[in-house]
Amino acid sequence: MTRPLARLEAAEPLPTRPAIRIRDLRKVFGQLVAIDGVSLDIAPGEFFMIVGPSGCGKTTLLRILAGLDSVTSGAIEIETPHSQRPVNSMIFQGDSIFPWMTVWDNAAYGLKMRRVPSATVKEVVGHYLARTGLTRFAKYYPHQLSGGMRQRVSIARAFANDPEILLMDEPFSALDAQNKLLLQEELLHIWEEHKKTVVFITHSVDEAVFLGDRIMVMTAQPGKVKTFVPVPLARPRNIMELQKMPQFGELIAHIWSSLREEVHRARQQEEEIKS
Ligand SMILES: Nc1ncnc2c1ncn2[C@@H]1O[C@H](COP(=O)(O)OP(=O)(O)O)[C@@H](O)[C@H]1O
Ligand SMILES: [Mg+2]
Repeated sequence: MTRPLARLEAAEPLPTRPAIRIRDLRKVFGQLVAIDGVSLDIAPGEFFMIVGPSGCGKTTLLRILAGLDSVTSGAIEIETPHSQRPVNSMIFQGDSIFPWMTVWDNAAYGLKMRRVPSATVKEVVGHYLARTGLTRFAKYYPHQLSGGMRQRVSIARAFANDPEILLMDEPFSALDAQNKLLLQEELLHIWEEHKKTVVFITHSVDEAVFLGDRIMVMTAQPGKVKTFVPVPLARPRNIMELQKMPQFGELIAHIWSSLREEVHRARQQEEEIKS
């Protein structure tokens, strides 16, 4: 029997059960309220973006989703339909690959830890190294690679690990503009193949609109949801095409106008602390 009211009861109506459901999340560090009452649902396969001023609790939220940090109060549910898969893989801003392992071994790490049969490891790692343009560098060590290539290894490793959810914390912000663009495109191509649920933090409004299905703008500390902005741009997306579309510019302007108030508030808070 269908329950016509069920959709109305949901905080954010979604066509299917959410992959991630957060209710009234609060996180306190001593005196500091980092996150204050965040509620949101993320749909399976959604590319969900988070923007907010520095210090508003974005990384804290992601670390909580990754199970690296605890909540002070509130509820988090993560749907895991494929119980044999890891729940999440996290990609950080700096490269987080192991310096003593080759590119291949880094990409294979998660699968080997799960004792996946070696033939499967070979196939999966081979696939993602090819997708990230790293096949020729399989035997290289991280110190022999550029920052952009190391970040590609992180992406290959995360996708090879086949998690339910990918958590990305400003993964491209240390890269130069050209490498960043190439990696954004590669990430979108790989994502189009599998439509994994992605939670992606960025301080770049352009990046949020280029990549995301939906953008959450957070307030200055204590971090709350300021607004959700859907990105109704068709996929697959091409940055050159997008830049010609008035809608792309309008979305960026809309998000930036919401964000800039919070960036100003965050700056005022910093000045108050200093004085
Ligand atoms: N382990 C911690 N102990 C104390 N304070 C922390 C800790 N982690 C983060 N914070 C504080 O919580 C706030 C939010 O931090 P963070 O989540 O890193 O923000 P963002 O990623 O949005 O810049 C900041 O004021 C930060 O200093
Ligand atoms: Mg952060």
